[in-house]
Amino acid sequence: AVIRRSDYRPPAWLVPDIELDFALDPARTQVRATLTVERNGAHDGPLRLDGDGLVPVAIRVDGKVLKQDQWHLEDGTLVLPLCGDRHEVETLVEIAPQDNSKLMGLYASGGLLCTQCEAEGFRRITFFPDRPDVLSRYRVRMVADKSAYPILLANGDPVESGDLGDGRHYAVWTDPYPKPCYLFALVAGDLACNADRFVTMSGRQVRLGIWVKEADIPRTAHAMQALKNSMAWDERVYGREYDLDVFNIVAVDDFNFGAMENKGLNIFNSRYILADPETATDLDYDGVEGVVAHEYFHNWSGNRVTCRDWFQLSLKEGFTVFRDQNFSADMGSHAVKRIEDVRILRAGQFQEDNGPLAHPVRPESYMEISNFYTATIYNKGAELIRMMALMAGPERFRAGTDLYFDRHDGEAATCEDFVVAMEEGADLDLRQFRLWYEQAGTPRVKALLSHDPATATATLTLEQQIPPTPGQPDKKPMAIPLRTALFDSATGAHGRDEVLMLTEARQSFLFENVAHGPILSINRGFSAPVIVETNLSQPDLAFLAAHDDDPFARYEAMQQLMVNVLIGRIAGSPVGEDAVIEAVRGAITNPALDAAFVAEAVRLPSEAYLGDQMERVDPDAIHAARDALQQRIGAALEPLWRDIHARTGAASFSLSPAAKGARKLRNAALHYLVASGAADGPAIAFAQFSEADNMTERQAALATLANGGSEEREAALDIFYNRYASDPLTLDKWFQTQAFALHPAIVDQVAELGRHKDFTLANPNRVRALIGAFAANQWGFHQASGRGYALVADCIVALDRINPQTAARLVPPLGRWRRFDGARAAMMREQLQRILATPGLSKDVMEQAGKSLD
Ligand code: ARG
Ligand code: ZN
Repeated sequence: AVIRRSDYRPPAWLVPDIELDFALDPARTQVRATLTVERNGAHDGPLRLDGDGLVPVAIRVDGKVLKQDQWHLEDGTLVLPLCGDRHEVETLVEIAPQDNSKLMGLYASGGLLCTQCEAEGFRRITFFPDRPDVLSRYRVRMVADKSAYPILLANGDPVESGDLGDGRHYAVWTDPYPKPCYLFALVAGDLACNADRFVTMSGRQVRLGIWVKEADIPRTAHAMQALKNSMAWDERVYGREYDLDVFNIVAVDDFNFGAMENKGLNIFNSRYILADPETATDLDYDGVEGVVAHEYFHNWSGNRVTCRDWFQLSLKEGFTVFRDQNFSADMGSHAVKRIEDVRILRAGQFQEDNGPLAHPVRPESYMEISNFYTATIYNKGAELIRMMALMAGPERFRAGTDLYFDRHDGEAATCEDFVVAMEEGADLDLRQFRLWYEQAGTPRVKALLSHDPATATATLTLEQQIPPTPGQPDKKPMAIPLRTALFDSATGAHGRDEVLMLTEARQSFLFENVAHGPILSINRGFSAPVIVETNLSQPDLAFLAAHDDDPFARYEAMQQLMVNVLIGRIAGSPVGEDAVIEAVRGAITNPALDAAFVAEAVRLPSEAYLGDQMERVDPDAIHAARDALQQRIGAALEPLWRDIHARTGAASFSLSPAAKGARKLRNAALHYLVASGAADGPAIAFAQFSEADNMTERQAALATLANGGSEEREAALDIFYNRYASDPLTLDKWFQTQAFALHPAIVDQVAELGRHKDFTLANPNRVRALIGAFAANQWGFHQASGRGYALVADCIVALDRINPQTAARLVPPLGRWRRFDGARAAMMREQLQRILATPGLSKDVMEQAGKSLD
C-alpha cells in the first residue's frame, strides 16, 4: 500500500494524556496503557489505535470491560466505535522483547531491555495512534526484577521509585512536554553511569548521565564532553536551552542506525558513545561528537518542534544535520569538516539522486517510511538549510530560526512552515527556492567564462539542467546560489567573492575591471549541492590548487586535476600526470597549510567517485588507473613521503587538532609509501601497526596492508583479531577493513568471513561492517563473475527474515545496475528478481528491490 503526502488528514482523535504500566520481562512483558482520548473536530468516526503484532488481552472504556463484539482488529489496528467526545481507554497486551529481532519496539540487547520507536515502533509496544501529530503527556511506570534490571529509565524526570518486596522494584517517570509516541523510550538493565552536570544559561541545573556497562565507563568521557559542548553551543548559536532537570543517554550494542533523540533519554548505538585511544580512530571520535550533538540538538529541532507527518522528516533531520555539521566545524576545522561533508554527500546522496531510488527532500509517497531515512532527507536536506543560511547571512538566518522555534514550539510542523518562517524572519524570497523540496535529482551547472581584454570585462555564462528522476520527467529551473570569485592569474589575487543567484535555465553575469585572463573559482565552499562543469584547463586547476584561498575550492581543484588525469587514462587519451605530481608536491611541502587539509587534498578521488564521473562505470579500468597513478605519485615523491612519515610519528597521544592532523597526514604518507612499491613498504606499515599507541594509526596501517599480498598482511590481521576478539566494536573494524580491501581475492575472503564464528546477522553493526562495506567496495562488489552480487543478495534474503529494516539498506548497491555494462547489469537484475521472488518478503525490502528493478 502506498501512502501519499496529499492524503494527509488531521487526526480524528487526540490523546492529551497517556499512562503506561510495564511489567518488564524479556520473555513476557505486560503493557497496560491508559489513554485519555478526545474527538478532534466534528465527526462520528471510531477510534483507531495502530497495532503491529499485538493482541489485546483486555480492553476497558471508561472503566468498563469491552465484550468481543465491541471492538475488532483491522490489519492489526484496534477499532473502537465510541459515542462520546472524551473517554478513558485502557488496553492490556503482552509482548516478548527477547524475540524481537527487528529491533523496533521493545527489544533485548545484551541483557538490557530498550526501545526504538521512530518511525513506527510504538505500535509494536501498545495500541496507539502512531503518527507524529498526536502529542501526549506521558506517565510511565516500570516494574522489573531488581537484580537483573536495577536501573529503570524513561523520558522526562524520575518522580517515584521503590521496592516491591518480592525481588522486584518499580520506578515512575513523567515527561511534562507533550510529545509524539515516536519519542517514547524506556531502558531497563544493569547499567553504570558517568554522571555530570550542566547549568543552562537561565540557571537550570541539569543532571547528565551516560549509561553503559560498568566496564565501558572509561570510554564515555569524550561523549560527555561532546554533550556539554553541544548544550553550550545551542545556547550560544541558536539561543536554545535544555528544558528538563535530567538528560540521559544509554548505549546499546544492537541498534538499527546511529542513535535516537527520545525526549530526555537518548538511546545510542554504542559505536557513537564509546571511544578510547586503544579502540577508536579519530574518525570514530568525531562520529561520537557529531552524533551526540545531533541527538541533543533534536531536543529543539525535532522534539519541541516536531513533524506533522513523515513526509516532513527532513524538517527535523535536514535542519539537525546542518546544526551538527556546524557544531563539529566549530569544535575542529571548518575547512576539513566541509570537505568531509561534501565527500559524504557525493558518495551517498548524489548516487541516490542519480538512480531508481531518487526522491525529493520532501517525498510525495512511500510504502515503508523506514526506507526514507536517506542521504537525501538528511544530507541534501542539510544543504537546503545551508543555502538559506548563506542567502540570509548569519543574523537574518538566526532571526528566521528564532521565529520558527517560537512560532511552532509544542507543535507538529511542516517543511513549508520552516520556509515561511525563513521568508518572514530572515526576509528572504523563497518562492522559487521551494523547488528544492519538490524536485529530485542533482542539478548540473555548466559554467563558461569568457574574457574580453579590450573592455576589461569577463562574462560568466551559467546553464542549469536537472535530470529526470522517477515520476519527474520534466524539471523547472531552480534557484542556485553559487559563491564565485575571479582570480587574476598574474597577481594571484581575486576580486570580490560574491554569491551569484542562478535562477534561469541560462543566465550571464558580467564582471568589470578584469584586466588579465581570469580564472574561475565557482561553488566556493560548495555553496550549492550541484555538479558544476567548467572549462578550466589543467594549468588553471593547478593554479587554483596552489592559490585558492577558499579551502574547499582549493581541494576541489586538486580533485578535478586528478579526476581529469584518471578519466584520461581510462579513456585511453592520456592527460599529463606531472601536473598532479607537482600539485601534490606543492601541497606536502607548503608549510602554511594545515596537515589535516593536506591529507585531504592529496588523497585520490575514490573509485566510486570516479565511477560517478563516467557514462558507464568500468570498475576494473577505474581500479587499474587509480592504482597506477597512486604508484606514480608514491614513487615520484618517495623521499618526501618517507620524511613526512618519520616526522609525524612518535608524539604522545592527544586529540588536539594538530595531533589529529598529523596522524591523518602520516597515514596518507604511509599509504603512498606502500603504493610506491618500495621494498620496505610493508615492513614500515607493519612497524606502524605494531608500535602505534592509537587506533587511528593502527587501523590505517592494517588497511594499507590488507590491500596487498604481503606476509605482513596475514600476520597483522591475526594479531588484530586476537587482540580485539572480545570487543565487538573493534572486531567490527577487523571485518570492515577486510571488506573494504582492494584485494583480488576479496569475494572469497568476504564469503569466508561471512562463515566466521564471530559473524552474525543478529547485530546490525556486524552486518554493516562486512556486507555493507563490501557492497561499497566498487572493485570487489562488481567483480565480473557476479559472485559479489549473489553474496549480498543471499545476505539480504537471510537477514530479511530477522531484521527487514537493516536488510533493506543493503539493496541500493544492486539497484545501480543501469550504470554498468550489460553483463553486470543482467546479473544485478537477476539478483534483484531473486530477492523479489522470495516468499514472505518484508515490505521494506520489497519496496527497495521493486523500485530498483523498474
Ligand atoms: N531520528 C534518528 C536520528 O537521526 C534516526 C531514526 C531512524 N529511524 C529509522 N526508522 N530509520 O537521529
Ligand atoms: Zn536525526
